[in-house]
Amino acid sequence: MRRHHSLPPNYWGDLSSIWDANIQSPTFPFHVAYFEVDLWITSMLKGCGRALEIGCGTGGSTSVHRGETSHLVATDLSPDMVRRTRSNLARIHGQEMPALAVATIEHLPFRANTFDTVYGRGTALSYANDTPAALREIHRVLRPGGRVAVDTMNAAPLIESLRGRNAFQMMGETPVYQEVRDRGTWRFYRVFYLKPGDPWVRYCRKGTDVKARPEELGAHVNSSHSSRARYFRPHELKRLVESAGFCEVAIHPVGHLYYAQKSHNKWAQQFWKEHAEDLSRLFVELEAHLRPETAVSLVVTARKRGLSHPSPP
Ligand SMILES: C[S@@+](CC[C@H](N)C(=O)[O-])C[C@H]1O[C@@H](n2cnc3c(N)ncnc32)[C@H](O)[C@@H]1O
Repeated sequence: MRRHHSLPPNYWGDLSSIWDANIQSPTFPFHVAYFEVDLWITSMLKGCGRALEIGCGTGGSTSVHRGETSHLVATDLSPDMVRRTRSNLARIHGQEMPALAVATIEHLPFRANTFDTVYGRGTALSYANDTPAALREIHRVLRPGGRVAVDTMNAAPLIESLRGRNAFQMMGETPVYQEVRDRGTWRFYRVFYLKPGDPWVRYCRKGTDVKARPEELGAHVNSSHSSRARYFRPHELKRLVESAGFCEVAIHPVGHLYYAQKSHNKWAQQFWKEHAEDLSRLFVELEAHLRPETAVSLVVTARKRGLSHPSPP
């Protein structure tokens, strides 16, 4: 397994201020997939005492699942994301707050055998620097018999809006020119940080897509950062999770309704909009008849070998 460089240190922190608007937008490509991932997580959390959430972001997934377990610890590598989770949850649910912590999946700051369930929505595993280490950590902190439900980006689907983009944009308060490319099972990111006060910053403020990297870019840039994230093929993900010591490993395809969302057929689009949640429930119910190869994301569920009764609430 090759190691890859992580995203720029404050990549997720810079996105934290726009993340809520991003995931609530109906054009967000993972809109449908997230709802279906949550359905899988909810089914995994049944009867769960202690749960750990990885990559909680701004708390969208935390908010959905906080009532489904008696004790929840939500974590993310970005302190800005964790701060937003805290303020979002306080606004929506009041003072009753799950425990929150800054933590990377590769080094979880918890004792072995602590949690009944580990879950994550939003493909944090795809961004982990070392996927086998992340899976071993999840395995370590689960009690024997405990279960995991996390999603990853799927290598197979040819989703045009996810395939390559050059854009001037703001990352929080930071003006950048960003290139995203997909090649095989990798997604490459190149972020160029523009000089503050540079005349080109106005393109970032407007959010401007361009066909190719402008030749004169160099003169406007302070620094740049390259990184990559991982798409998984279904059988490869299954093997990785098994290698970390898990049993009952199953890969569930999610997000197929994205194709209805992007369809040129107006009826299909309208029908999907009116029945999105019910259709998602139906697709999750029919998962055995869908091809993981064409799913937008993959949810992997698995169990740590050993006793299967949960910890007392
Ligand atoms: C796509 S966002 C999803 C956020 C949230 N769960 C949601 O559904 O809106 C992925 C999140 O994973 C976090 N993340 C990325 N790599 C991580 C790692 N190695 N360890 C922990 N969190 C990570 C990011 O900071 C980000 O908040």
